[in-house]
Amino acid sequence: MKTRFTERFQLKYPIACAPMALVAGGALAGAVSRAGGLGLLGGGYGDMAWMAQQQSLVGGATIGGGLITWSLDQTPELLDAALAYKPIAFMLSFGDPRPYAAKIKASGAALICQIQRLSQLDEALEAGADVIVAQSSEAGGHGMTNRATITLVPEVADILARRAPDTLLLAAGGIGDGRGLAAVLALGADGALVGSRLWASQEALVNENSQARAIELTGDDTDRSNVFDILRDITWPPGYTFRALTNTMTERWSGNEDELLLVADEEREKYNAAMAANDYTIGHSPCGQVAGLIRDIPRAADILEAMDTQATEILLRLGKRLQLPRVRELSPLDLPGVAGPQRGLRGEGGSSDG
Ligand SMILES: Cc1cc2nc3c(=O)[nH]c(=O)nc-3n(C[C@H](O)[C@H](O)[C@H](O)COP(=O)(O)O)c2cc1C
Repeated sequence: MKTRFTERFQLKYPIACAPMALVAGGALAGAVSRAGGLGLLGGGYGDMAWMAQQQSLVGGATIGGGLITWSLDQTPELLDAALAYKPIAFMLSFGDPRPYAAKIKASGAALICQIQRLSQLDEALEAGADVIVAQSSEAGGHGMTNRATITLVPEVADILARRAPDTLLLAAGGIGDGRGLAAVLALGADGALVGSRLWASQEALVNENSQARAIELTGDDTDRSNVFDILRDITWPPGYTFRALTNTMTERWSGNEDELLLVADEEREKYNAAMAANDYTIGHSPCGQVAGLIRDIPRAADILEAMDTQATEILLRLGKRLQLPRVRELSPLDLPGVAGPQRGLRGEGGSSDG
């Protein structure tokens, strides 16, 4: 499968591994890149000793990296250290990327900016983002409520087609198999940024008890709240929440965060003890709604291959079922506002020759 994203980064699959803080280490980022995706090392809040150790596990693969922007604002000097590893791409999420854009681009890395709302798109485009990641609420880990992949991705795709046609678009949130990958390509993305499904891989830095809960639970069993940020004593900017598998902590405190703050010390002790004992009925398992699609813990390379094969089969099957003249008449790509450089799959739609 070829898209503008695979061509830009010389990939086999239109899939990037999300730079999941402390989860996407050198083994996972390296495995994804070696398999033919784009591996991004999850620098998170910027622990440089961790990053150095993980870089030594990449195994010579070409990878990128990522940091949490509002945290970088507190220690901007960390960016130089992260860029010293010569990432092929660098992703900033959760804050204003503009102060860091020039340095990232001068290093030779492509700038990837993850957004949750249209109102954040201007900043990302002003920063000169090479790739926008449109992250919806289904996603695991931090994000925002309200937006779903099926409307956010085409809305961003339309704006990019008009305003920044060379800027690539990845969809993030809820993409767990080839059906999801095919869907976001159909919505106008150039590829997918996958977090939770790769969190449930052999190379991820995740305890097996935590991954086992994802296998056991369904997509109903996740929750977005500030509970685990309070328990970990990390203050996130307003508007961001954290999606994790439900457990006794979310059942008790999600929606009651003000009350939790009153007993935070006591609850933190329980939480820390549970995390030390790998007890995820109390400790957190950061996994999105994709939990309902996680049935095993394969190698990252197998996840990518299965996603790509299934997506290709679906797209070919649907293509065969459609009757060409009708497609030409009804193609939304011919409608005003969608015109512009072809997005998504190379050779699919976008031109009037059917
Ligand atoms: C365990 C975990 C940790 C994450 N950490 C980060 C992070 O440090 N920085 C970031 O930009 N996004 C982070 N994310 C969000 C991802 O970038 C991505 O948007 C999300 O995983 C996509 O949705 P999905 O989980 O349904 O695949 C994290 C996601 C997970 C599951």
